[in-house]
Amino acid sequence: MKKPLIAANWKMHKTKAETEAFFKDWNTHSFPDDREVAFFPSFTLISVVRDLLPGGHLLGAQNCHEKEKGAFTGEVSCSQLLDAGCSYVLVGHSERRHLFGEGDGRVSAKFKAAIEAGLRPMLCVGETLAQREKGATLETVLGQLEADLGTVFPLSGFDVAYEPVWAIGTGKVAGPKDAEVVHSAIRAWLDERKSGGDSRILYGGSVKPANAAELLAVPEMDGVLVGGASLDSESFHAILTAGI
Ligand code: PGA
Repeated sequence: MKKPLIAANWKMHKTKAETEAFFKDWNTHSFPDDREVAFFPSFTLISVVRDLLPGGHLLGAQNCHEKEKGAFTGEVSCSQLLDAGCSYVLVGHSERRHLFGEGDGRVSAKFKAAIEAGLRPMLCVGETLAQREKGATLETVLGQLEADLGTVFPLSGFDVAYEPVWAIGTGKVAGPKDAEVVHSAIRAWLDERKSGGDSRILYGGSVKPANAAELLAVPEMDGVLVGGASLDSESFHAILTAGI
């Protein structure tokens, strides 16, 4: 049984002072033994979070470049992230796909680069509202897995976050039943390829203290990836302890 992972995706938020204030409060809390915690701050905050993070909490970046080094102005490589203290990286977040035009080719290259560098990628997948409305949710999500994970199986050392695009930052959340259907399909897809035995499947999209307990109770739910509600220490801690 994997311990659920409660992960904070801070996106393009927080200054150094705001990060210090967050951890001043965060570090007064106690943390449940049966859940793990990860933070994904902006590049500029990685070393700040690293130095304030309680022991055992994990640190990751929100993006990486697929090349190890070179003339790629503005980019950050997996080895630089490892060097900065990260063990994780988000790959294929829907904001990268939809706002920055990252297609599956790019996402797949980043996923492979992270695995090869020894960083644990968390591959984000999810359907748009239009895809859901035409009944193409599973086709979209499994198609992204197919395109992004590569073709060499078995594969391990990664996680998957199911984040329906229509639920991110909108206040709309997939119901526990909807999440269960997609999570089970992802797990079955991985099992068929003898892959992801150590992978968690997280849900993301408008997770809040009020809905976290019912989402975390879903079978095949190995954690949550939280954007907006992770920016406040009290609200993120309420999610971390939801249902226990
Ligand atoms: P949200 O973002 O919780 O603000 O919807 C989740 C995410 O994009 O990872």
